[in-house]
Amino acid sequence: MADGTTAADIVAQLEALEREAQDKLAEFTSDSDVNEWRTAYLGRSGKVTQLLRGLGGLPKEERPRVGQLANTVKGRLAEALEARQAAIQRDQLAGALQSEALDVTLPGEPVRVGQLHPTSLVLNEILGVFERLGFQVVEGPEVEWDRYNFAMLNIPADHPARDMWDTFYVEAEPTKSFGSMLLRTHTSPVQVRVMEDTPPPVRVVAPGRVYRNEATDASHEAIFYQVEGLAVDERTSMADLKGVLTAFAHDLFGEKTRVRFNCSYFPFVEPGAEVSISCHVCDGGGCRVCKHTGWLEILGCGMVHPSVLEAVNYDPARYSGFAFGMGVERIAMLKYGIDDIRYFYSNDVRFLQQFR
Ligand code: PHE
Repeated sequence: MADGTTAADIVAQLEALEREAQDKLAEFTSDSDVNEWRTAYLGRSGKVTQLLRGLGGLPKEERPRVGQLANTVKGRLAEALEARQAAIQRDQLAGALQSEALDVTLPGEPVRVGQLHPTSLVLNEILGVFERLGFQVVEGPEVEWDRYNFAMLNIPADHPARDMWDTFYVEAEPTKSFGSMLLRTHTSPVQVRVMEDTPPPVRVVAPGRVYRNEATDASHEAIFYQVEGLAVDERTSMADLKGVLTAFAHDLFGEKTRVRFNCSYFPFVEPGAEVSISCHVCDGGGCRVCKHTGWLEILGCGMVHPSVLEAVNYDPARYSGFAFGMGVERIAMLKYGIDDIRYFYSNDVRFLQQFR
């Protein structure tokens, strides 16, 4: 042989190469290691191929035997490679199953369920009572004209009664017939809008938001809800007013509740009254909640003033009616024993979730 390499040399080298390749392969744990190994040993310019190049220098009769051996080694390495790849994949899967294990028997994350705001709860209850008494629910705008909020309600521009409602005015040019634009201070303007649009008889309740420009404290908010009521027909009397509001108080606060009507003043009613219920905490005996009077004021009311009827072209000689207005949060406070109105709109779920 030209370079003196014998068949035995090549066989020995093949055996050494196989051992080396098998040893390395056994240590591999990743696909990329394995790929490098494949190129290094079994690739077209890999170590086994290189060894086989030396075959040409062997005597003709020895070549087949050594060539066959080389192919057997190649075959074994290819098998070992496959086995190693399968093992690596098994290990990776086992690892992933362990690290990404999901215990489907664990309890789930609780989903927070929403609920109605206490104002909505009580508002719905109030409207329900009046619906059963034959009242229709109507709504009016929160941005109002002076004409509806004041003028048509018998409260002229210079009337001191306007001081009863501190008003937020909207920066808009006042119009000749509607006056200034403002945020309604009460739901009473809806009375006027309904009567302007509808011939009598009418029997409506009007819920909605109202706005007052005042410092907030435990019993005053700048934004709150009212429910207005209005019933006009022939021969509607103070007795109807008392009957309806007494039924309302009994429905909302219980049959045993006593109802009191006191004279009061609102420019759009005559006579005017405020309604109180016997204190449900002390049953009238006197306590902190009723400020030791035994009574809790719940609303203002009265017989619709003839001037208001005239202003909407209702004939006061033929028609009469009653009206009332109540604060929804106030009713909710009495019902649930809440002592500060500011809780309602401070967005504290600990407060809100107590009412269902
Ligand atoms: N609008 C009055 C207020 O907000 C309440 C009221 C309504 C009084 C209807 C009498 C009749 O104070």
